[in-house]
Amino acid sequence: MIRPARLFLFSLLLFLIAFSLPMPLAAQDDALPDVVVAARADFFPEGVEYDADGGRFLTGSLTEGTIFAVSDDGMVTPFIEDADLSATVGIHIDKMNNRLLVANTNNPAASSETPVASLGIYDLVSGDRLALVDFVSLLPDVMHFPNDVTSDSDGNAYVSDSFAGVVYKVDADGNAEIFAQGDLLTAQGFGPNGIEVVNDEFLLLAVTANATLIKIPLDDPTNMSEVALPEALGGDGLLLHPNGDLLMVAPSPDGNELIALRSDDNWESATIVDRQPAPGATTAALRGDAVYAVNAHLGELFGDGASVAAFEINRIDLALDAAAASAGDAANGQSLFVTNCSVCHNADSEATLVGPGLLGISERAATRVEGLSAEAYIRQSILEPGAFVVEGFPPAMPATFGAMFTDEQIDDLVAYLKSL
Ligand code: HEC
Repeated sequence: MIRPARLFLFSLLLFLIAFSLPMPLAAQDDALPDVVVAARADFFPEGVEYDADGGRFLTGSLTEGTIFAVSDDGMVTPFIEDADLSATVGIHIDKMNNRLLVANTNNPAASSETPVASLGIYDLVSGDRLALVDFVSLLPDVMHFPNDVTSDSDGNAYVSDSFAGVVYKVDADGNAEIFAQGDLLTAQGFGPNGIEVVNDEFLLLAVTANATLIKIPLDDPTNMSEVALPEALGGDGLLLHPNGDLLMVAPSPDGNELIALRSDDNWESATIVDRQPAPGATTAALRGDAVYAVNAHLGELFGDGASVAAFEINRIDLALDAAAASAGDAANGQSLFVTNCSVCHNADSEATLVGPGLLGISERAATRVEGLSAEAYIRQSILEPGAFVVEGFPPAMPATFGAMFTDEQIDDLVAYLKSL
């Protein structure tokens, strides 16, 4: 017979490259800490959330099951101690209902053969248990690893099970069902992992071993589809940023990284907006707009078994605004144009002044350079006029605008030119 705990350990090792490289972090311009060092040995927090009302991080514990509160000065205090929690993985704050949802599984450090797969539901303030919902009874004959959990505004919880290859749904009354399963969720090794609800409309789910991101409609889970990604990403934890980007923890050649994905077609496809090193990260949490990733030190837990004296919750700065899709203000762009550009460009005709007339540039721009969208070409024309010089014209456009304007002003100019 296969020992679940052992196989769990082995599979985790296969895909997990855990890193504990020290990361230089730039000083932040606000009062939030760059790093919180959780001063407690060997509890291996995998999931993390920031409880804004309590002013504390909450983490799970792979080796004990206890949920801990971590303050900014690194104090670690037990918040939920429940004998039925054996290894806590993903945790999720359901703000609307003031609950903490906890994915509970077999303790990888123990060798129990009784499968454990459940969702613990707790009061976020008192820590009192409201329910413990079992999943083993839904799928008795397979291996389980409840990994991550999220919730929608009706109070339904969705839990990914990495070994069973399914997503469970637990309604507000604690009734559990298998919500989604099928080929797209089936994997050799670690399958369904990080999970987030988008707009109360669909789930986004990382299927780690397949290196895919799956979109699952809440009203019709059988109609799931694979999100087209620019590269294969074996995602772990997911986090939906307030700006609509999806942040994904993924292994990288230099250590784990946090990748910001953005979609402009409701998650049929996505592009990478930014990626930053996130040492040892398993998942990330929001604190306001700031993003923190826990360094779970799983390399030590599953590697040489070395003791770990402290764990870090690192702030990760992603360039989400600089690369933001142009949401510029065209009216402001027009006034910038009049003062700075109209000496060389007509806006109301195609007639040449010093440079080409820009009437209709929104359409011409898409045809100028292969692979560059209209927006990207217009942006490049302003920031790096030398990169492509329109035929028949001298390279006479000043290259100083990038330094002269703020990112926002550039967005405004781009929005105006796109309206021509
Ligand atoms: C001193 C004159 C001059 C000024 C000022 C100037 N440009 Fe230009 N611009 C040119 C010339 C000449 C070209 C054509 C050569 C090239 O592509 O660099 C050009 C090309 C362009 C193009 C590409 C047009 C096409 O048909 O592909 C865009 C877009 C553009 N400029 C936008 C701007 C904007 C926006 C500003 C103001 C922020 C500006 N320019 C200011 C001279 C100027």
